[in-house]
Amino acid sequence: MLDEVVLNEQAPWSEFDSDAYVAGNYHELQAADAEIISIMRDHFGGYFAEHPDPVIGVDVGAGANLYPALAMLPWCKEITLFEHAPRNLAYLTRQLEPESYDKNWDQFWEALRENREYAEFKGDPRERFREVVRVAPANILASDLGEQLREKREAWSVGTMFFVAESMTTEEEEFRRGVACFMRALAPGAPFFAAFMEHSEGYHAGDAFFPACDVGESEVLESLEPFAGKSGTLHVRRLRTPVKVRAGYSGMIVAYGRRNSDSDDDIPEC
Ligand SMILES: C[S@@+](CC[C@H](N)C(=O)[O-])C[C@H]1O[C@@H](n2cnc3c(N)ncnc32)[C@H](O)[C@@H]1O
Repeated sequence: MLDEVVLNEQAPWSEFDSDAYVAGNYHELQAADAEIISIMRDHFGGYFAEHPDPVIGVDVGAGANLYPALAMLPWCKEITLFEHAPRNLAYLTRQLEPESYDKNWDQFWEALRENREYAEFKGDPRERFREVVRVAPANILASDLGEQLREKREAWSVGTMFFVAESMTTEEEEFRRGVACFMRALAPGAPFFAAFMEHSEGYHAGDAFFPACDVGESEVLESLEPFAGKSGTLHVRRLRTPVKVRAGYSGMIVAYGRRNSDSDDDIPEC
């Protein structure tokens, strides 16, 4: 457990071991991810059944996790995976090579296909993945990305952020900025899905240890309300799955809904 403050820029991102992270989290589809996918496929499937036009998607802090991008794949003509850690960028870039993404991601795609809207996608997901996904180095707390996100705001009409804002710093102020940066990127009305570790004490990716901010449902709700309250929609809930993927946290929280169209003046800066 970390008692001291660790800001985002102080954490050893260049030592983030993608292969160890994937081996520990995503070689097998775990119960918590299966529950997340069951909620996310109904959220996105329900939205796109009524809004079938192609959109542009973004996954913020994609790391070495492809299933948020797979969840957006059937409806996206472009998906940007923003990522900060060099080895995760290399991992993601490898997944775009001609033989495309690794076999372990098939079970995540099959879980998505339990929703009819995904089952009706007739193409080859690997081919679509290679066609539409691009990987971009980014620090979401840096002002140049804030500007990029704002510039393209009308363009990003679906977005995901999984285990990033609370898993990159011990500081609540940086957690809130991370959430704000993600939500500020999205066009009014855009459906979004985010996941958070609850009361995390930090985590390993290989030998390196990474900081986490201690958040629960109320902090997640407060951070998102300015962007999805009022004219948007917002659901925040703890997963029911009791199984933990590692020690040092108390559960997982998902937050999903649609971005509101309130004036930028009223919402927190990123
Ligand atoms: C716990 S991992 C989550 C990765 C992945 N989204 C997942 O669901 O497994 C935290 C991720 O946040 C990324 N990250 C940390 N600081 C960041 C920053 N300032 N900007 C963008 N991404 C950042 C890390 O590189 C890492 O990929």
